[in-house]
Amino acid sequence: MPLVAGNWKMYKTVADTAAFCAAFRPAQGVDVVVCPPYTSLAAAVESGLTVYAQSVHWAEEGPFTGEISAPMLVELGVSGSIVGHSERRQHFGETDETVARRAYAALEAGLGVIACVGESEEEREAGQTEFVLRLQVEAIADAAGRHERLVLAYEPVWAIGTGRTATPDTAQEAHAFIKSLLEVPVLYGGSVKPDNAEELLEQPDVDGALVGGASLDPDSFASICRTAATIRS
Ligand code: PGA
Repeated sequence: MPLVAGNWKMYKTVADTAAFCAAFRPAQGVDVVVCPPYTSLAAAVESGLTVYAQSVHWAEEGPFTGEISAPMLVELGVSGSIVGHSERRQHFGETDETVARRAYAALEAGLGVIACVGESEEEREAGQTEFVLRLQVEAIADAAGRHERLVLAYEPVWAIGTGRTATPDTAQEAHAFIKSLLEVPVLYGGSVKPDNAEELLEQPDVDGALVGGASLDPDSFASICRTAATIRS
């Protein structure tokens, strides 16, 4: 079954979340996940959707101001977490090592994990895409192995929030490379929209999507979920 996850980033209050959940009609034949900000997790769980957080700390508790632990998410009824999103790597000092620690702790606590990897524009232009992906994937693989609750998301940094999507061929090539390093499902992320979801999800190694901007609107997100269900079921 394909997986489509909506990463809401720092958008949607509790009231916005309730409105989204009331309007959203999930499709059959696809696993759908929403990833609200921490303050809206409980409201999303209450609606009956499958809910992931956007990050999770590796310790169960401790002096880590601003962080949230896996047991805290479990207590709320949250089913998993994204780790290693490029915005966390870029703006909050996340490294391959901390991403791996977060992934391991979340899996140990019984959560699902969507671990993000992807090269920057400069890295791609310098011909370093596979080198960077290998480092990122191997850090996660070393910590977590081929876990049944682990999926990776290939998110080329130059395609996130830019409206520039990887071509289906570029995505397929990266996905096949990632799977040669760690055999788990790989989602594509980076400007996925209702009108480009089909060509991306048609690629043999694209097992679903991690959707940012287009997941904020219940109709757009439902449309992408339906496309995934139709193509990959
Ligand atoms: P985008 O974000 O769909 O808005 O490009 C994707 C992501 O950051 O996960």
